[in-house]
Amino acid sequence: MKKILITGGAGFIGSHTAVALFESGYLPVIVDNFSNSEATVLKGIQKICDKEFSFYEGDCTDADFLQHVFKSEENIEGVIHFAASKAVGESVEKPLEYYYNNIQSLITLLNVMNDQRCSLLVFSSSCTVYGQPDKLPVTEVTPKKQAESPYGNTKRICEEIIEDTVKSGALLKAINLRYFNPVGAHPSALIGELPLGVPNNLIPFITQTAAGMREKLMVFGDDYSTPDGTAIRDYIHVMDLAEAHVATIAFLEKTAETSYSDVINVGTGHGNSVMEVIQAFEEVSGDKLSYQIGPRRSGDIEMVYANADKSQSVLGWKAKRSLKEALDDAWRWQGTLKSK
Ligand code: UD1
Repeated sequence: MKKILITGGAGFIGSHTAVALFESGYLPVIVDNFSNSEATVLKGIQKICDKEFSFYEGDCTDADFLQHVFKSEENIEGVIHFAASKAVGESVEKPLEYYYNNIQSLITLLNVMNDQRCSLLVFSSSCTVYGQPDKLPVTEVTPKKQAESPYGNTKRICEEIIEDTVKSGALLKAINLRYFNPVGAHPSALIGELPLGVPNNLIPFITQTAAGMREKLMVFGDDYSTPDGTAIRDYIHVMDLAEAHVATIAFLEKTAETSYSDVINVGTGHGNSVMEVIQAFEEVSGDKLSYQIGPRRSGDIEMVYANADKSQSVLGWKAKRSLKEALDDAWRWQGTLKSK
């Protein structure tokens, strides 16, 4: 089995990608420092896949630690780099922490990969690099905009570091995947999103409200220029997103060029408003959700959704699961958290 190192493999997207890799015949090797995840996630992966895998606790800014992982495992074919801090608001308060963590870990990883002759890399980027685009849907050639937050800026800078490394002729084949809004959970409800404290993101806030943990959802603005006035995003099921990573690894394995980089959007190609998400959730849960319309959240954009053609033409991948399926899975996952 080909070994793929997943940094941040105990996190939301990383853990689902570990499952998708197993399902496609790869052997994930997981690294995580548990800064925003829990060790129980590893048990969930093991239960779903019924297979053993290696896990190393440590930080990707630590070169000795990463060297140790590569030496212990031998023959790691490629890396999917998720490990990063991801809270937009927190990044505004702690910019140095975000720049250090997200950028230093990538630089350290690239150096270690170079030393260890490991040349395949999938990098976890975000549609945040487009800001509020002038034209929708967003294609990969849509111009990038000034980042709204240090978090967003780290994604843009990391993409450029990878592109410059490839331009220098390094033996590196890399794809920056620009995710839209990942939601849902594994259908087994054994793994899912585990927000620390009060969730910033829409879906965990909705499921926690429905579970009685929050009084009501605040809808951030209903005065946008959208059909119902609420903001529009491209919500993608996390298992679809996970499978996009497997397709990217398989594509990079076949790529003949030895120095190669590209960027690919990972979205469904459809936008949904906050009100549409609430309605879909009410249908899935069979209950009314308590919500209130509030002011816009600072830094939020009005509308973004992907043109998903490139992922299909280059990777042969497209999203298969519906928003309702994602909400159903997220709701079932929330149910298991309640009973724990
Ligand atoms: C943001 C980031 C994205 C990042 C992601 C994960 C931007 C433009 N996007 O996505 O890069 O990867 O977080 O942290 O910075 N909403 C409410 N009430 C809530 C929560 C959210 O109405 O309590 C609304 C938001 O205003 C937005 C939508 O729901 O319209 C989705 O919000 P959220 O889940 O936070 O994701 P983004 O802000 O799109």
